[in-house]
Amino acid sequence: MEPIDYLRTITRRWLLILIVGLLGGAAAWGYSATLPEQYQATNSVFVTSDRGETTSELLQTSTFTQNLVQSYAQLATTPTVLGPVITRLRLDTTTQALASRVTAVTPLNTVFINITVTSRSAAEAVMLADAVSRSLATTVETLAPTGPDNLPSISVKTVSPAQLPADPFAPNTELIVLTGALVGLMLGILYALAREVLDTRVSTEKDLDRVSSNPLLGMVGRKRRTDPAGLVMRVMPHSALAEAYRRVRANLEFIDVDSPPRSAVVTSAVTRDGKSTTAINLALAMAERSTRVLLIDADLRRPSIAELCDLEGDVGLTTILLGDVGPEDAIVRWSDGIDVLPSGAVPPNPGQLLGSAAMKTLMKRLLEDYDFIVVDSPPLLPASDALGLSRLTDGAIVVARYKATTRQQLTTTLESLEAVNARILGVVLNQVREHRADVYYGPLTPMIGASTPMTGPINRVTATRAPKAAFDDSGRRDPESARTK
Ligand SMILES: Nc1ncnc2c1ncn2[C@@H]1O[C@H](COP(=O)(O)OP(=O)(O)O)[C@@H](O)[C@H]1O
Ligand SMILES: [Mg+2]
Repeated sequence: MEPIDYLRTITRRWLLILIVGLLGGAAAWGYSATLPEQYQATNSVFVTSDRGETTSELLQTSTFTQNLVQSYAQLATTPTVLGPVITRLRLDTTTQALASRVTAVTPLNTVFINITVTSRSAAEAVMLADAVSRSLATTVETLAPTGPDNLPSISVKTVSPAQLPADPFAPNTELIVLTGALVGLMLGILYALAREVLDTRVSTEKDLDRVSSNPLLGMVGRKRRTDPAGLVMRVMPHSALAEAYRRVRANLEFIDVDSPPRSAVVTSAVTRDGKSTTAINLALAMAERSTRVLLIDADLRRPSIAELCDLEGDVGLTTILLGDVGPEDAIVRWSDGIDVLPSGAVPPNPGQLLGSAAMKTLMKRLLEDYDFIVVDSPPLLPASDALGLSRLTDGAIVVARYKATTRQQLTTTLESLEAVNARILGVVLNQVREHRADVYYGPLTPMIGASTPMTGPINRVTATRAPKAAFDDSGRRDPESARTK
């Protein structure tokens, strides 16, 4: 992924990221609500010495006091100071435990000591701060040197008694919630990126490039449920979807301008990728150019062409291969310029039938009679029938289903075709969703990879900006199609 792709992933999944962020904030808020409230109160004392008569004496004592203040501050957390506090207030605690809740700091170059006490109760914090500073005063006065009058030379006076705190200082809910929300956002972004990186389903032309150098013949959008039922090329001949099939046809013609392929097998990795749909619509697109197009249903495992074309499928390819009838008795004129050879009865040994010499001879003969033959086939991963068929035709068109076929599946499919030296005419990405196509190609982006001649004429815009929803299965039959049997 390139940096721009990361950015796109984030903008595309903004809602998810936002939700995870909000959840993080909410979780942090819940957590902070479980934390006990803590209050702080501060008592400031002033350390002074009233010794000295002359200026120089006063200066001397002042320096002396300032030097000592730091040490006095340290005293505030000693048992000497805290012991009497515990006794006087009858606290159920130890000097050590109390010390952990007391801090005494001296602002730089001053003779102030700020004694701060933390407590679960605001009133107790005040009481303790005052008691500790009183005890500190007593201790300091005991420790200080005495003057000639036997009085302590240093005194500690409270200048700012502790105030009852209005709000707890902890937990800092705002900070905790903000942190939770930020962590949530980060997790959301990481999740979105990880999904994008780990998602191996084919969804862009780049994914195809990563898998192979085979050209992209076209991107067929997804038919909406609300679109008229039936085959796109017939019921919506002017739609972007129909246009996408025409572009596949155009790209096939461009593969070799002097002798364009005259037959193709349509296959894919697994079932329901859209092989049969692509085969029929491609045949219909071909029939717009040529009057002699044949569509063969060579998916002898799950034939569907007869049903899709609303024809009887009992007599067909297998009947011919078994020698019961000739091609002329099995091939059906479906509509103008397009003939259909249904599958016939489903045989127990489809692989054997399709690989037979009879099949080879049949194909040879049919190629003489038709300008273009489209062969529908079973999926390649579970069955190898399409491999043989690809050798009997001018090559294979591999259908990949947007956001369903994985790169691994597509690679295996293409590799197995390459392994038998089959010609791969190209890949058709099927059921592309509109918004996704726009994200990647933009409404007016010209073709990428125009250097490959066969991809040249694809207008990616029309090919990808097709309607969204799926064909519904109920809509397979085309009421307008000519019933020939
Ligand atoms: N471009 C498309 N848009 C919406 N639905 C599609 C599209 N192509 C195929 N489908 C639907 O997907 C399903 C499987 O298609 P089908 O052509 O029978 O696949 P396969 O022959 O590969 O098993 C069918 O219901 C079909 O209507
Ligand atoms: Mg099929």
